[in-house]
Amino acid sequence: MTAINPVTDLSMDGDVAVITLNSPPVNALSANVRDGLHEGFKQAIANPAAKAIVLICDGRTFIAGADITEFGGAMKGASLADVQKMMEDSPKPVVAAIHGTALGGGLEVALCAHYRVAVPSARCGLPEVNLGLLPGAGGTQRLPRIAGVEKALEMMTSGQHVPAKECLAMGLVDELAEEGKLKEAAIAFARKIVKENRPLKKVRENNTKLEAAKGHPEIFAKFRKENARKFRGFKAPESNIRCVEAAVNSTTFEEGMEVERKLFMELMTGPQSAAQRYAFFAERQANKIPDVPDDTKTIPIKKVGIIGAGTMGGGIAMNFANAGIPVTIVEVKQDALDRGLAVVRRNYETSAKRGRFTMDEVEKRMGLIKGSLALEDLADVDLVIEAVFERMDVKKDIFTKLDRIMKQGAILATNTSGLNIDEIASVTKRPEYVIGLHFFSPANVMKLLEIVRADHTSKEVIATSMKLAKQIGKVAVLVGVCPGFVGNRILAQRGREAQKMILEGAMPWDVDRVLYDFGFPMGPFAMSDLAGLDIGWVKEKSRGETIRDVLCEKDRRGQKTGAGYYDYDENRNAKPSPVTEEIIKEFVKKSGRNPRTISDEEILERCIYPMINEGAKILEEKKAIRPSDIDVVWMNGYGWPVYRGGPMYYGDQVGLDKVLAKMKEFQATMGDAFKPSPLLEKLVAEKKKFADLR
Ligand code: CAA
Repeated sequence: MTAINPVTDLSMDGDVAVITLNSPPVNALSANVRDGLHEGFKQAIANPAAKAIVLICDGRTFIAGADITEFGGAMKGASLADVQKMMEDSPKPVVAAIHGTALGGGLEVALCAHYRVAVPSARCGLPEVNLGLLPGAGGTQRLPRIAGVEKALEMMTSGQHVPAKECLAMGLVDELAEEGKLKEAAIAFARKIVKENRPLKKVRENNTKLEAAKGHPEIFAKFRKENARKFRGFKAPESNIRCVEAAVNSTTFEEGMEVERKLFMELMTGPQSAAQRYAFFAERQANKIPDVPDDTKTIPIKKVGIIGAGTMGGGIAMNFANAGIPVTIVEVKQDALDRGLAVVRRNYETSAKRGRFTMDEVEKRMGLIKGSLALEDLADVDLVIEAVFERMDVKKDIFTKLDRIMKQGAILATNTSGLNIDEIASVTKRPEYVIGLHFFSPANVMKLLEIVRADHTSKEVIATSMKLAKQIGKVAVLVGVCPGFVGNRILAQRGREAQKMILEGAMPWDVDRVLYDFGFPMGPFAMSDLAGLDIGWVKEKSRGETIRDVLCEKDRRGQKTGAGYYDYDENRNAKPSPVTEEIIKEFVKKSGRNPRTISDEEILERCIYPMINEGAKILEEKKAIRPSDIDVVWMNGYGWPVYRGGPMYYGDQVGLDKVLAKMKEFQATMGDAFKPSPLLEKLVAEKKKFADLR
């Protein structure tokens, strides 16, 4: 074995040269890796004893893409294009041996091999779109040639990691190897190619699948139309589509590459990709907790208990069943339990009908969920999550009982969305095992999990919760105890201003439109209609003191009653409501206010800047570890557009001096709800950004 450089080895296995990369954690295409590949291929091609070349990776994965940390800086080392050209033009067959994930630049390298062998657990994808980019190393031109136009469009605009079996079916992979025997299989495959004198297949030269799409622009029109909602606001999906169009319509491969290069540079230097790359690292950063090191002991979680079979309880249970962990759901009454389990089954069946998995899988997952009416049945679970309604006395009662029933060493979690967890923990004799696991509705869909650390929560319990979150596919952020924690505390700022503005002259749909155009999937009023206006509303106590009271009193309780702030048709399409408009005007008149026109600019600033300010307060109080954690919460739990990077990142982009100046202006005319946080003042005085607080 010859070491080419610290991350690349070249060895001979009989007449096959094997280039092995070992650049943890994910063999990203750093300058070192590119140099190693360049030199490795050069030597292997020059070696007369080598009849074929296998490229394989050590560690957990094949090349997982370009090294994102290099983006934005000056490129050093060999160029990826040179490496790819050397592979493709090699006079000896090149076989890429894939395990783990071949992603982005990694797959683009593999596409320059003449053949690809993968283990069944491997996955391939071009996830650049998730970084606001497109595959800039020929992927946009090679993937449609090998996988077909429709499949390429789907893969490139979703970024999905496609399992090896599917890759084999679409021609992206030539052979599957037995798990754990990739190297032997790839070498044997390479020998077979030599022995059978098979052609050195260059993906770039194969136009058969492109021909099928030539003269059919409707393929692209249909794809754009079907995905318009999903792509709204994002630049990268459209650029990816245009590259595939170029692959189909160009006369040469090089012509298509020109388009790819141009659009790649546009995205790479634009603000959206910068925000999306920030988001990628922010999510990973959130896993790092300064006083809870990576090697902190964790508690094995083999069985989970959930208290409450409502929307939240059922949704939470699905997360664990999906990950193969048995769950027991406890309810007070049989009919509530039956109803809850029926909803879970219906959700699974809907997924199966949409082709996400088979009906057998529905049964398998339902088989992992058991219902019970006795808390005592949770005695031997490793983690219990209480998901009943938000009342401190009820939660305290449950935790008192849990403390008595549950085995020692089990984690006692609450799904409260804002109650004081220290107070809940205080009724137990084991507050170090009490933690908040705040899921977001629908809990089986939303990615965010706020993990709430109380005063006495142990490091072991925190480390276990963080690890478990990853296992069930959640993006976890550790936050501290304060009313509403991080997400809802910031949401309250936006909600307050939205409500105030409809008393000053704006209509709900004006506010919603501005926030929708900003990139949120819906505005606060449409969101209230979806959730139900009557959450927390009590008919007997309602005195028409707020617009919401009046709407609920008129049975306009949101989408479920066909009317709320908006009117809804039978397909739940929202329309601005003349009834609501009248109610608001009447209410404003009665309260003696003079309505005025509120500009879109004011709506946006009044909704967003207090959120940024509240984020600063959260940081001062150390309820979030770092500004980027707040951004992760908002991007994954509240629909903040990823291409704007979260409220704190957005504040930095707008300029904190501008945010502060506006807050002061609003404070002067509208009061202390806009009082700037000392941290915001300090950062502006020091000409710093939130990003400097890392
Ligand atoms: N560049 C640099 N660092 C990377 C990286 C990359 N492409 N991919 C992952 N990492 C780092 C992560 O930041 C993380 O670092 P820390 O441990 O310091 O936090 C570490 O590798 C492990 O990553 P994960 O925690 O995400 O590990 P995982 O096992 O859960 O997931 C993965 C592995 C599926 C590869 C995931 O990391 C991932 O999706 N990576 C990004 C893949 C990607 O987008 N590739 C395309 C890059 S752009 C490109 O290639 C452009 C082009 O056309 C040339």
